[in-house]
Amino acid sequence: MSAEVRRHPIETFLRYDQATCGLGVAALLAVHVFLAPHPLLVVEAVAVAVGGAALGAARRPLGRDDPARAVSVIAVVSWLTLLAPAAVTPFVEPVLVVAALLPVVLAIPYVSPRHLAVLVVGSTSVAGAVAVITAGAGGGVMDQLPGWLPTVVVAAFLPAATGMIGLLSGHNHQAMAASRARLVASTDQARRGIERDLHDGAQQRLVSVAMQLGLARSLVEEDPDGAVELLADLEAQAHLALAELRDLCLGVYPAALTDFGLAAALTAAARPHGRRCRLEMCDVGRLPEATESAVYFSCLEALQNAVKHAGPDAVITIRCERTRPDRLRFSVRDDGAGFDPTRARAGAGLANIADRVSAMGGNARITSAPGHGTCVAGEVPLPQRGRPHGAGAVIAGEAQT
Ligand SMILES: Nc1ncnc2c1ncn2[C@@H]1O[C@H](COP(=O)(O)OP(=O)(O)OP(=O)(O)O)[C@@H](O)[C@H]1O
Ligand SMILES: [Mg+2]
Repeated sequence: MSAEVRRHPIETFLRYDQATCGLGVAALLAVHVFLAPHPLLVVEAVAVAVGGAALGAARRPLGRDDPARAVSVIAVVSWLTLLAPAAVTPFVEPVLVVAALLPVVLAIPYVSPRHLAVLVVGSTSVAGAVAVITAGAGGGVMDQLPGWLPTVVVAAFLPAATGMIGLLSGHNHQAMAASRARLVASTDQARRGIERDLHDGAQQRLVSVAMQLGLARSLVEEDPDGAVELLADLEAQAHLALAELRDLCLGVYPAALTDFGLAAALTAAARPHGRRCRLEMCDVGRLPEATESAVYFSCLEALQNAVKHAGPDAVITIRCERTRPDRLRFSVRDDGAGFDPTRARAGAGLANIADRVSAMGGNARITSAPGHGTCVAGEVPLPQRGRPHGAGAVIAGEAQT
């Protein structure tokens, strides 16, 4: 377990954003007190202060490990906060337009393409609204301000806003590079695991079968009954080796996934857990190979987590459904021990799920609390056309692959 606790980049952004709001409030009050007393400046300062405080609401979804919701909260609060400065101090327009775009850059690593498109439309609309409001504003406060003030304020705040875009772009680049590196590392780790399982399992058994076959041959003439007995034992061992290889293939890349699709592969994965594991496949059909593989391995990891960590009595439900023709939702839910996602030891499993799903342009979410079970859920985009099959619910152990 790593002792180092790294601050989430969204938390860093929040602090930066709240500090900028604080600075804005201080600047507005300073202007009001020392340069141009005007009640609208106080109104703007209060609006910016409320906006800065409201940004803190994003910490709740962040604590639940739901960054997509956190960036949505940040976007909406930031956009609403920009309107008061646009109306009262319109000369800050360049800063406001850049600030309207910031949530989009922040969101890139955490949201689906569709979610990002919504944020782009939102930020463009807010930038447009800022332009319209600033064009109609003026008079009042503006008439009382010294001529040099707008230049000084814009010169101070614009680099802060554009600097944040630079920092976020650098972070996004690092996040994507780290995600690629994790996928490569997890592939290597999986290869090492396969080598170890083959070596310790089927390979050992086959070596022993080969050696004993030699013994059986020498026994055929001296002790035919002993030879028959030994051959029967060797046959059982060969079947065991076969079963081990079959189990191994299930974890490596199950033939059922390629041949019959997600429903069949998940049915085979759930079957060893019997009635403890329910499988519900609703109108899933065949999907692009990469999507089937990402959803299968994400569900498999979440299933293995539930088996390993949720406790022996936990009931596990795997569910896949098309929520829309172009969207697949999956979830692996258990009613077991649960855990605190903000304090859990970081294993490779949950990070791999997030990486796999985001590589497909989707997003994944973990909801859990001690004593209240765990739900790993994700959504991935699909091409519109697909052959639906396998509709309805399937209970593990009763389904046909
Ligand atoms: N279904 C679950 N029920 C209870 N705790 C869970 C569950 N899923 C995950 N956890 C907790 O989250 C931690 C991280 O899970 P993760 O899959 O990343 O790592 P791991 O399972 O410990 O190791 P591995 O790298 O082999 O997957 C686990 O160690 C466990 O404490
Ligand atoms: Mg795990």
